[in-house]
Amino acid sequence: MATLRDADPAAGDARAVQVRTLFSEIAPRYDLLNHVLSLNIDRRWRRRAVRALGWELAPHGTYLDACAGTFDLALELARRQGFAGRVVGADFALPMLTRGMPKVHGAPVAPVCGDAQRLPFATAAFAGATVGFGVRNLSDLGVGFRELHRVLKPGGRLVVLEFTVPPGRLLRAAYLFYFNRILPVVGRMVSGHPWAYEYLPRSVRGFPGPRALAELLRSAGFASVEWSLVSGGIAAIHVASKAGPKAGREGPQYPRRAR
Ligand SMILES: C[S@@+](CC[C@H](N)C(=O)[O-])C[C@H]1O[C@@H](n2cnc3c(N)ncnc32)[C@H](O)[C@@H]1O
Repeated sequence: MATLRDADPAAGDARAVQVRTLFSEIAPRYDLLNHVLSLNIDRRWRRRAVRALGWELAPHGTYLDACAGTFDLALELARRQGFAGRVVGADFALPMLTRGMPKVHGAPVAPVCGDAQRLPFATAAFAGATVGFGVRNLSDLGVGFRELHRVLKPGGRLVVLEFTVPPGRLLRAAYLFYFNRILPVVGRMVSGHPWAYEYLPRSVRGFPGPRALAELLRSAGFASVEWSLVSGGIAAIHVASKAGPKAGREGPQYPRRAR
């Protein structure tokens, strides 16, 4: 039976409790570990994800960053030059939001403690939405994607930035070695947490590949889904659009590598 400390991605309903516990416990060290363990490439990925959102077409809009953690992705959007809207950063682990608040420094980011699978927002509330390294943790991806689809305005975009396993043999071998052997050890040493950084490689291993993820987004109701790999396929960026009038939205601003 799953316990709070199994970190088992296959633990069904207990998963949400495990994930919330895990992120609540590592919150004080999350930012440090995030940038160290990703060798700081995560910053570049976040910039790309925000570009893919095409927010320039609705700069005054309200945007959602779901699974916002300590707000790195929300702030990447909120601090874009010309951005005049606001970003709601939602996460179900309160200690992550609390830890991120000092970074907000007057930027238009509003924290909300809430579950991505039961978003506490009205239908069609947001001009666009992002999720960075969050969907991998959801216990039911279909439910999460349908919720994200629901809260988007017609024509709005969802951008999902998530780890994936690189397709190239050499890079995949190096990546798996790093992920399975180095990362859990360094993660344990720096965070002091006994199992959090074993969960990370396990959750990536059990996660659908980019093509399957695109299919899940379509099944959740998104009208068009495109995706591209970044850094040789260590991560992928999916851009999914909700059908509807494309008021003020002309032409995609993201890499067009439809699959
Ligand atoms: C790896 S962190 C990513 C944080 C941030 N997006 C970033 O790019 O650094 C994953 C976050 O997702 C949150 N999370 C996981 N499942 C969630 C859910 N069902 N609802 C809300 N937040 C969730 C966790 O609490 C954690 O803060």
